[in-house]
Amino acid sequence: MRETERLSELAKRRGFFFQSSEAYGGVSGFYTFGPEGAEVKRNVEKQWRKWFSQREGHREIDAPTVMPEPVFEASGHLETFDDMIVVCPECEASHRADHLVEDNTDIDEAEAIANEKIGEIIEEEVIACPSCGTALAGQPVDDFNLMFGTQIGPGDSQQGYLRPETAQGIFVEFPRLKEYARNQLPFGITQIGRAYRNEISPRNSLVRTREFTQAELEHFIDPEKDQPDLEKVEDVELLLYPRENQGDGELIKATVREAVEQDTIADPWIAYYLGLAKQWYSRIGVNMERFRFRQHQEDELSHYSTDCWDAEGEVDGNWIELAGFSYRGCYDLSKHNEHSREDFTLFREYDEPEIVEEPQVNPDMGYLGPEYGERAGKIKQALEDLAENDPEAFDHEEVSIEVEGQELEIPVERTGFSVEQEEKHGEHILPHVMEPSFGVDRAVFTVLAHSLDQDEIDGEERDVLRLENEIAPTEIAVLPLMDKDGMPEKAREVARNLRESG
Ligand code: GLY
Repeated sequence: MRETERLSELAKRRGFFFQSSEAYGGVSGFYTFGPEGAEVKRNVEKQWRKWFSQREGHREIDAPTVMPEPVFEASGHLETFDDMIVVCPECEASHRADHLVEDNTDIDEAEAIANEKIGEIIEEEVIACPSCGTALAGQPVDDFNLMFGTQIGPGDSQQGYLRPETAQGIFVEFPRLKEYARNQLPFGITQIGRAYRNEISPRNSLVRTREFTQAELEHFIDPEKDQPDLEKVEDVELLLYPRENQGDGELIKATVREAVEQDTIADPWIAYYLGLAKQWYSRIGVNMERFRFRQHQEDELSHYSTDCWDAEGEVDGNWIELAGFSYRGCYDLSKHNEHSREDFTLFREYDEPEIVEEPQVNPDMGYLGPEYGERAGKIKQALEDLAENDPEAFDHEEVSIEVEGQELEIPVERTGFSVEQEEKHGEHILPHVMEPSFGVDRAVFTVLAHSLDQDEIDGEERDVLRLENEIAPTEIAVLPLMDKDGMPEKAREVARNLRESG
């Protein structure tokens, strides 16, 4: 039996996790953690908090899971957070088109292929509907937005969405968080919480669900000044699968320091967090023989990401994405800065004040008004823009500008052009963001799968879990060895004392 099936069986029987709402037939993509599983999950979260928040000096927040539509207009999720859907013409079942291609061909990362090409592959490979066997050739491959919509409030309600990543709850609060951090970079904000994605075809137990828990860290940095403390993890050995090696190439073994020096990992921030993550996954019980870091292909990158490596764990021969380490640059803060009323920039003070030249105009409105009438205001604006963008245009006797589609020549002496020298003490910048993003449910699933073992009782084999102490749901068992001499009473007393003392 495959590990996934063995684990699912054991998980159901022993109260680790099971399909939710089964009494009503269940809906795929939703799981309940039973008493044992909920404890394991809490322990994984506790260890994550220790490792990525407390030890690193970051602070954790707790934001709502429902957010208004403008947040996701700004973040780009409304427009681009899609998967490819193909619908069966016979039974009307919906399928994730790229997964059908991966399941039926040698192609590994079909997500990176364009919809049209996926449609062609479905036709060429004669891929059929997994539900009823009807050929899917010729069916359109469309984009399907993964966000769950909801109405906020009654009547004239506002459109909202369940957050598809906890990250946006951190980004939108940046104006307050920067104040909390006394406007000083770098600082990191973490959050552990639920996220939601309306997956087309949830599958593979806890791996692809519609509601899940993320543990995310947004590390805000000044890209010109801040560097990670690589020394802390420089000797950690990584197994790396860089973009160009994927397919037939080899995996590379390198320490964090070597990976940066050999440019296998271009960004030291990503390398730093891969080092920390390797230590953490090892500590919670992921088998390091079945663990690697894989770089995203260019066309696989999310809309906000300039480089990304995934931590992957192997179960049943499949590599599961456990976490993503993404360099998001200033994408998110610049979008919220542009779309919202708040200021998402920070002031970067120069070490020494700089003398800068500021070209300026002070147009003679007593001339422009009578000469150009209603267009005078627009001419003034055009002259100001020109002074800022191309001050050399004022080196001639006349300046050419275009207003309302018409070319105008304005005498330079009427523009009041001058170049002033100013002392500048700094500038407003948009911080960059390094994001380690972990799937908690997937971590629990992989730890449990990698901890599965078998032993034999009275000639019968049974599945057992061998979990790390820090993750195990049961810390202590009090077992009276005999039912006599007051031993059960004593055992109950010991158990009570232990519970009372936490
Ligand atoms: N915040 C990254 C992700 O949800 O994939």
